[in-house]
Amino acid sequence: MPKTSYDDEIAALKQELLRSQKMASLGELVGTTTHEFNNVLMTVINYAKLGMRNKDEASRDKAFDRILAAAVRAEKITNAVLGMARNRSEEFAPTELEPLVDQSLLLLEREMQKYRVQVRKEFSAAPPVRAIGNQVQQVLINLMTNARQAMPNGGELVLRITHDAKAGFVDLTVRDNGSGIPREQLTKIFDKFYSTKSGPDATGKGGTGVGLSTCREIVDAHHGRLRVESTVGKGTAFTVRLPLWQEKSESAAAAPIAPLGVPNSLSSSTTSLGT
Ligand SMILES: Nc1ncnc2c1ncn2[C@@H]1O[C@H](COP(=O)(O)OP(=O)(O)OP(=O)(O)O)[C@@H](O)[C@H]1O
Ligand SMILES: [Mg+2]
Repeated sequence: MPKTSYDDEIAALKQELLRSQKMASLGELVGTTTHEFNNVLMTVINYAKLGMRNKDEASRDKAFDRILAAAVRAEKITNAVLGMARNRSEEFAPTELEPLVDQSLLLLEREMQKYRVQVRKEFSAAPPVRAIGNQVQQVLINLMTNARQAMPNGGELVLRITHDAKAGFVDLTVRDNGSGIPREQLTKIFDKFYSTKSGPDATGKGGTGVGLSTCREIVDAHHGRLRVESTVGKGTAFTVRLPLWQEKSESAAAAPIAPLGVPNSLSSSTTSLGT
């Protein structure tokens, strides 16, 4: 078989794999969302009962307040999921990272609360990047889930957006103050099926070892960079670097975007690795 047929076959298989990974993460999302929805419904039912039992105005006001807040939250969740399902586009488009991070967070909010993970957002103003929104969201959900799993007794999750105007890219960092990754494991974590987890946790996530390899494939396809910095006992930060949307290069059709060069670096206090 000539080399090109193999190449075509490999390309087709990669596409297929990406599609199934997308389906799997959608499946996980459905699980998380259904769980969230049940929580919201429990609130609505309980406060409706409370309002019916207590005829005084104060109790009824309180009940309506809680029911309204729960319903507003439910609406946000459905909109986020519908948005993901609708936005099936596999096209690159100008993408604002801030709403994308917020939406991903909304879907994992309850899970973070359950594991006592405080979320801190450090967003600075950034122009749109060149991205496929659904795929970047998939990267975010994988990274945030890993971060949460690295902090089984709670901790802090920092989500940071920074813009380097000169170099023309936006950095998105997901940082935890969890277990950290030993130096000898750092070279393996992006390998497909590499996992140090014994299996899925109570939320049904973890242990397959496909999360980070999918992240890397997606970031590569975006001509971006995915870097990790980690210190055992202190925590880990993954940074996704994405190129800015440039109207000109899009219309100039197929003008390749140069990969953003960040050399792999090893510093003394932290171990870091770039892909
Ligand atoms: N934030 C983190 N802190 C500590 N270790 C991490 C972190 N992120 C990833 N790892 C390590 O990298 C390994 C690979 O991560 P990856 O997301 O690919 O797989 P997984 O989480 O084990 O399973 P899944 O495919 O369900 O995501 C993990 O098993 C863990 O050892
Ligand atoms: Mg994972």
